[in-house]
Amino acid sequence: MDIVNDLHPRRFAEVDDLLAFISIYEDRKRSRAYLSLLRKNRRWIRGGVCVDAGCGWGMVSQEMARLGARKIYAVEANPLLVRMARQRLANYPNVEVIHEEIQDFRPPEPVDVLVHEFFGQLLYDEDIHVLENLRFVPRYWLPDGAQLSGGVMDARDLVDETVTLPVLQQLEGVLVAGLFDDAGVPLTFPVLKWSPSRFRYHVEYDISTTQGDVLYLGLEIYHRGQKVCQAGECENWSYVWTPRRGNRFRLEFLPDHRGMKVRFDWIDASME
Ligand SMILES: C[S@@+](CC[C@H](N)C(=O)[O-])C[C@H]1O[C@@H](n2cnc3c(N)ncnc32)[C@H](O)[C@@H]1O
Repeated sequence: MDIVNDLHPRRFAEVDDLLAFISIYEDRKRSRAYLSLLRKNRRWIRGGVCVDAGCGWGMVSQEMARLGARKIYAVEANPLLVRMARQRLANYPNVEVIHEEIQDFRPPEPVDVLVHEFFGQLLYDEDIHVLENLRFVPRYWLPDGAQLSGGVMDARDLVDETVTLPVLQQLEGVLVAGLFDDAGVPLTFPVLKWSPSRFRYHVEYDISTTQGDVLYLGLEIYHRGQKVCQAGECENWSYVWTPRRGNRFRLEFLPDHRGMKVRFDWIDASME
């Protein structure tokens, strides 16, 4: 969905966020995976103080209320989503919807559970970094881990009559999300990890032991070591593809006005 008329930049940004959110909710597997994560961890939620970081229009808060949370702070930066969350959660007196950046939020009491979903296709390329600077320390994080994993394949097994080898050759140094069909394509090596105590915005990775001329990267989300969901299964996240031009690549995430800027290059650009 694209906005096609001229709008004030602030109005554009708010509505653009809202529209992005519609496609997030269209990913039913992602929603089911998160609801199932909450239900499996209901023992932490029931009777607890919970924070829904980036509550969107309130799906997670609603479920935590149903699971018996004592108090829920649903914190959301986008004013349109705040309005929608307030409507959706109006019948839950123990849910407080707060219009604030999560990194500025100071809860008035200790927090038992923090639920979040700020993952980008490359793990750090959206807003997960905001959780590094929280003003409170939750007892439990849901989920508590994520990984950007990778794999290498032969271009001949991927190209078709539209995305041909010549097209692929033009994409040197470019990471393209959704270029090929990712269904059933295995993620075979870990490139970069996230946990509440580990935020890392830079990696250099060696794939010299692998064979193939296309590199792909995909997100995996974990809780207590169990897979919650992953790119290729939950359509909100696609694999990201690029033609291989060496054996060592560098991936870096830099602060931007929204989300993170991604830098990618081949350290030893050697292959033709
Ligand atoms: C991917 S959505 C997840 C929504 C919801 N938690 C869910 O799982 O359905 C991320 C949400 O976080 C909000 N957001 C992004 N950065 C934020 C920040 N720094 N503080 C609060 N909310 C933020 C976005 O507006 C969006 O609604």
